Order: sequence, then C-alpha cells, then structure tokens
Amino acid sequence: MPRSMGCPAKNISLSLKLLYWAVFLLHHVASSYEGPWYDSAAYTECKAHPEAPLYGGGILQGQPDKVVETGQGKTETGASSPAYVLDNLSTGTRYTFSCWVQISGAESALVKARLTTGNSTIGCLGTALARSGCWSFLKGGFVLDSPPSDTCLLYFKNADPSKIEISIASASLQPFTAEQWRAHQEDNIKKKRKRVVAVHVADSQGNRLTQASISVEQVSKDFPFGSAISKTILGNPGYQAWFVERFNAAVFENELKWYATEPDPGRLNYTVADQMLEFVRSNKVTARGHNIFWEDPIYTPAWVRNLTCEELGTAVESRIRSLLNRYRGDFVHWDVSNEMLHFDFYEQRLGKNATQQFFQTAQQSDPLATLFMNDFNVIETCDDANSTVDSYIQRLRELMKGGAVLEGIGLEGHFNRPNIPLMRAVLDKLGTLGLPIWLTEMDISKVFDQQTQGLYLEDVLREGFSHPAVNGIMLWTALHPRGCYQMCLTDTNLRNLPAGDVVDGLLHEWETKEVAGWTDDHGTYSFEAFLGEYKVRVAYGNKSAESTLSLPRGEETRHLNIQL
Ligand SMILES: *[C@@H]1O[C@H](CO)[C@@H](O)[C@H](O)[C@H]1NC(C)=O
Ligand SMILES: *[C@@H]1O[C@H](CO)[C@@H](O)[C@H](O)[C@H]1NC(C)=O
Ligand SMILES: *[C@@H]1O[C@H](CO)[C@@H](O)[C@H](O)[C@H]1NC(C)=O
Ligand SMILES: *[C@@H]1O[C@H](CO)[C@@H](O)[C@H](O)[C@H]1NC(C)=O
Ligand SMILES: *[C@@H]1O[C@H](CO)[C@@H](O)[C@H](O)[C@H]1NC(C)=O
Ligand SMILES: *[C@@H]1O[C@H](CO)[C@@H](O)[C@H](O)[C@H]1NC(C)=O
Ligand SMILES: *[C@@H]1O[C@H](CO)[C@@H](O)[C@H](O)[C@H]1NC(C)=O
Repeated sequence: MPRSMGCPAKNISLSLKLLYWAVFLLHHVASSYEGPWYDSAAYTECKAHPEAPLYGGGILQGQPDKVVETGQGKTETGASSPAYVLDNLSTGTRYTFSCWVQISGAESALVKARLTTGNSTIGCLGTALARSGCWSFLKGGFVLDSPPSDTCLLYFKNADPSKIEISIASASLQPFTAEQWRAHQEDNIKKKRKRVVAVHVADSQGNRLTQASISVEQVSKDFPFGSAISKTILGNPGYQAWFVERFNAAVFENELKWYATEPDPGRLNYTVADQMLEFVRSNKVTARGHNIFWEDPIYTPAWVRNLTCEELGTAVESRIRSLLNRYRGDFVHWDVSNEMLHFDFYEQRLGKNATQQFFQTAQQSDPLATLFMNDFNVIETCDDANSTVDSYIQRLRELMKGGAVLEGIGLEGHFNRPNIPLMRAVLDKLGTLGLPIWLTEMDISKVFDQQTQGLYLEDVLREGFSHPAVNGIMLWTALHPRGCYQMCLTDTNLRNLPAGDVVDGLLHEWETKEVAGWTDDHGTYSFEAFLGEYKVRVAYGNKSAESTLSLPRGEETRHLNIQL
C-alpha cells in the first residue's frame, strides 16, 4: 500500500472516494439490467380470441406471417403452414417463442413449432394441442448452438399426417442474452427463495438497543433438494455422511417398487425399504415415495403380468393398502401411477378408471401424503408426442374431474441437451394449475462426457430452482459400485466429478452465508436470507439471547423482536 494512503488528510478523500464508488456501484447495479423482463404469462384454456402477443411480438413485430408454399413448411406439414422468416438469429441467445394456434380440418391436433436454419433443423421448439373453433396458446423456445447457414424459417407442423390447416395469431419471438436470462433467474430467487428479516432488539423496559451485536446462522433449508439413494447406502457410513451433509430430501431408486417389495405373489419383503427409511428418518431427511405403480409393463413384476383381470384387481388393491398403511406418514409424496403418459399397463387390463381408483385408494390409505403423477419428456423436450405439456395438463384435469385427489406434478427431468427456454415455457404453463411441481429425477444423459454433464446440469438446476412453480428438486444420482443410472456426482470413493462440483457449488450459493452486524439507531438489524430455519444470537453489554427464526415463503419482511 503506498505510504500516502495512510495519511490522515488523505483518509477523508479516500472515504469520500469509497462513498462515491459505493453510490456509483449501487446505481450501476440497479441500472445495469437492460432489455425486457421475461414474461411468464401462460394460458391453458382454449379461447375464443387470442391474447395480445407477448413483448408486442418481439422481433416478429411488424412481420406478417407468410404462408409457405414450397420448402420445408410445405413438405413437413402436408399442408401450407404459416411461417416466419428470421434472418438475424445468433448462437447462444435465448429465444422465447409464443403464439396462438387454431386449426381446421380436424377437431384437435398436436401442433409443433419448428425451425430450420439452413443446415440444421430444430424438430420441436414448442407444442400446443390445438383445436378448431378456438385458440390455444403455444409457448416454447430455443437456443442455437451453431450459426445458421441460411435464412431461418420458423414454421408449424402437425404431429400426425392428417391434412389440416393451421392458423397462427399473436406470434412473438423475444431474444434474451445469457446475462439477461440469468438476471431474471436471480430476480426470482431473490423474490421467491429468500426473504428480508428485521431483528428488533430492546431491553426489558422496551427501550431500543443500538449497537447490539447480531449473528445469524442457517440451521436448515426450506427448499427440498436431494437425490435418489439405493440400498448401497446401507452400511456405508462414508456415503451416509456425504449424503446428509448435502441433502435434505431423498427418494429410493428402486427399493419401493412393486418388483422389489413383492418379488413373488404374497411374499412381501420390506426389509431393505425399512432400513433405508430408518436412515432418512434418523437424519431428518424428507423422503418421496416412488412408486406405487409403474405403467411400463417391463417394470411390472412378471407374476403380475400373468394375472387375470379379477386377480389383478385384488392384487393392486392389496399393493396400495399394504405399502401405504405400512408407511403411513413416512413419505411426503407418493408417485401413484408412474409414466402413465407413455404406458398403460393397468388401464389396458383394468379399464379406463383404474388410475382414478388408485388415487382414491391411496388417498384413503395415507391421507397426509401428497399424491403425484410423474413422467418424462415433459420439460426435457417437446419432441415426444406422448408427453407434451398440454397432454399432461389434460390428463391431470381428467383425473381431478373424476374425483382423484391429485396434488402434485412430477417432472422427471432426464435430460439430453437441455432446451432452457422450452423448460421455462413448460413450467410457466404447468404453473397455471397451481399444483406443487417437483423435478423428481434430474440427470444428464451419459452420452455426454462428464464435463458436459456438469455444464448442462448447472443450466437445468438454475432454471428449476429459480422457477417460482417448482417446489423441490431431486437428482437421479444414486451411487452404485459400478456407477449411476446416467450421471454420478462422485466416483465410488466419493470424490467429486464435474456434476458433483456443480451441485456443491449451487448448494453453497443457495444458502445464507455468515450474517453478522450491529443494530442501528432504531435498534434494528436487517438482512436478506434464504428460506429456512435460523438461530439468531444477540449480545449487548453483558447480556445475550438466542432465538430461533423460521423463514417460510412470503412476500413481506419477517420481523423478529428480541428482548434482552
Ligand atoms: C441483428 O442483430 C444484431 C444484434 O442482435 C443487431 O445489432 C442488428 O442490428 C441486427 N440486424 C438486423 C438486420 O436486424
Ligand atoms: C451450419 O453452417 C454454419 C455456417 O456455414 C456453420 O458455422 C455451422 O457450424 C453449421 N452447422 C451445422 C450444424 O452444420
Ligand atoms: C427379504 O429381503 C432381504 C434383503 O434382500 C433378504 O435378506 C431376506 O432373506 C428376504 N426375506 C424373505 C423372507 O424373503
Ligand atoms: C405365467 O403363466 C405361465 C402359464 O400359466 C406360467 O408358465 C409361468 O410360469 C407364469 N409366470 C410367472 C412369472 O408366474
Ligand atoms: C407413445 O405414443 C404412441 C402413439 O400413441 C405409442 O405407439 C407409443 O407406444 C407410446 N409410448 C411411448 C413410450 O412412446
Ligand atoms: C368411470 O368413472 C366415471 C366417473 O366416476 C363413471 O361415470 C364411469 O361409469 C366409470 N366407468 C367405468 C367403466 O367404471
Ligand atoms: C451487567 O451490566 C450492567 C450494566 O452495565 C451492570 O449493572 C451489571 O452489574 C452487570 N451484571 C453482571 C452479572 O456482570
């Protein structure tokens, strides 16, 4: 440090400079955000009239849609498609797209928005279950990972080859830079995952105490963030300690599945599940129940596949009752009917109302558990016609209308290369139902190297944690001696892999670091903290006090009065 910096005369100017910089920085940070804020509007009802375009149309503003008579639009749809010519798309930019769709020539059809860039095609950037006679909202997006070789064309295609006419209204394409996208996430985190606290300190007469020292320590986190575990965690204290240090939620990878608990008819065996439950319970880790039924016949016990309809009816009834009575109150959620958008083993055999029945029986057996549907390829991609956001919503509505007490939306999140704007758009739409949404099985495909898995994982975790409709995140990273399903956080010696570094980094980022200071002239000390449980220590002169503080979700400042 130069000697002159220590001179008393210069000190004043130094602190003035600091003040100047503080003001400048404050101003700069507050005004550094340029560009539009992301618009999370979403609609799931078919409307008589389309709403106005988001962002006034964004970069499509003033661009008339043109009906493509030749080229991709024509050949892909089998009918003419409205299309937008985009001559200025850039790589890395987050593009969010939305429009309203109506069809004629069929009662309803799944319509996909697509994009060609000359030398590549994005087969799906958003879908809507469109109808004739009313307008449906389509929302999605894309990011280009290589520059277009030609003018881009955004157009539409129905999933089946029937000859329909597609009409589009209020189309909007809005670009965001990576920084703008991130700024929106951070803003949501600040508003939804954190809260402002004001600690007021007074003496026994009620006089405010200034310069009382305050220190705050986060004891637990409100947001459930966890991983799948398997029986490999039993008898492995190193793995157990590693898990408990990080996570407050768990799900058993396979150990509650029907084939695990009843390998042969009537031979119930809950030994392993009991031991795993003992581990989570003794460590105050929240556990999801996964799953009661799995609609994929491959994962249905062989003996169950052999049953007659009557036998199967009895077997499913006793499966639900046995499992949920045994663990009543132990699991916060149950995935009742796993992957029913893709498979229908039980409905095929027991009739259309089977799932309805499952939910009713589950509700009776464990009224406190939140009952979930759980499926894949909903946020991961829109290529899968079985599990589009609208088909999921339609299925949820059908079940609820039939009387099912269905309280949660499970999104597995087995990603390939994630499409983050699409993920957000789908969450926006699902969020309109007002049900808790959990990302239940997140991982990145092992077709990618570990470094890339880490990068993609960070993208989807940031998107999930910052979306206001998401209530919990589970990773599908149960550790086995021979690795993991798709992605491990560590090697078998519990040394971090890139994905593990990402998780540790985010866990640290999303917790309240050391908070300490002094009360001001009003006897108040304010700070911002992630939701959770806290210990607050106050000291003044020779007096001190310790208080617990619970910080649940809420908009207003949380006030804590402490008297010494
Ligand atoms: C293309 O986009 C860049 C930045 O996104 C902008 O500066 C430029 O003006 C645009 N050009 C045209 C022709 O729209
Ligand atoms: C498409 O062409 C552009 C420009 O020639 C090139 O930079 C890019 O890598 C190509 N993308 C693919 C997927 O081939
Ligand atoms: C139940 O499962 C445990 C663990 O796999 C096994 O050791 C035990 O023999 C089983 N019990 C019965 C009665 O099959
Ligand atoms: C299924 O039924 C067939 C014919 O009755 C029988 O041979 C087979 O062993 C059964 N499989 C199981 C797993 O029970
Ligand atoms: C998806 O839907 C198609 C057509 O309805 C069906 O043939 C297929 O078996 C379904 N399941 C999966 C897993 O894709
Ligand atoms: C299915 O449930 C609905 C509504 O509860 C009922 O009206 C219908 O008769 C049921 N169908 C069958 C095949 O049980
Ligand atoms: C604590 O401090 C107060 C005021 O400074 C003094 O009157 C009192 O005797 C002290 N008590 C103890 C136990 O030191």
